[in-house]
Amino acid sequence: MTKSDERPGAELWVPEHADLSELRHAAEECRGCELWEDATQVVFSRGAATAPMMIIGEQPGDREDLTGEPFVGPAGRMLMEAASAADLLEDDLYVTNAVKHFRFERRGKRRIHDKPAVGHIVACHPWLEAEAEIVQPEVIVALGATAARAVLGRTVKIGEVRGTVLEPPAGCVSPVVVTAHPSSILRVRDSADREAAFDALVDDLRTAADLVTR
Ligand code: URA
Ligand code: SF4
Repeated sequence: MTKSDERPGAELWVPEHADLSELRHAAEECRGCELWEDATQVVFSRGAATAPMMIIGEQPGDREDLTGEPFVGPAGRMLMEAASAADLLEDDLYVTNAVKHFRFERRGKRRIHDKPAVGHIVACHPWLEAEAEIVQPEVIVALGATAARAVLGRTVKIGEVRGTVLEPPAGCVSPVVVTAHPSSILRVRDSADREAAFDALVDDLRTAADLVTR
């Protein structure tokens, strides 16, 4: 079997002319790649179709996989803290992920996060496209390299593009701000460096918030 046979992509499962709740429901059935097999459940998104800012993470983590909610673990807590420091309200945000099932490796009883491959990002992209079409955010924030790859369709270096306002990618109306993923900030050992990285995340969220008019 070729790779594309193994990963037909999510397109077959994405309903046309759907609203967000129909989309969420349909994603439970998705078999667009193999990641559904070992995950507990699909983790779709949080937020209303009226939210002016769409924030995209990488994939659900362990806690998200178990609860079915995005960004409820440590990275999520940091993200919400940073959003609040940038004067963003919960209602301003539509929060989702580039890949909707948890990819991990088993080590004994532990499940260790495993980065999604480009093939997973591509397979899951139809969901992201459908979400962006419904929400029509005024700005998209991509957290980290995987989200940036998903939104922009190309690989970028976070250090080179972060905090700048990028043109809407093909087929999209929303400008994009790329920033660091909160998980990478949690991994910074030195506390002064970690604080600086957190402040930089807040700055980037402010840059994105400045594009919001509603
Ligand atoms: N990290 C992500 O990228 N997404 C989540 O939902 C949780 C952690
Ligand atoms: Fe479908 Fe995405 Fe889950 Fe793969 S990761 S099965 S494409 S929802």
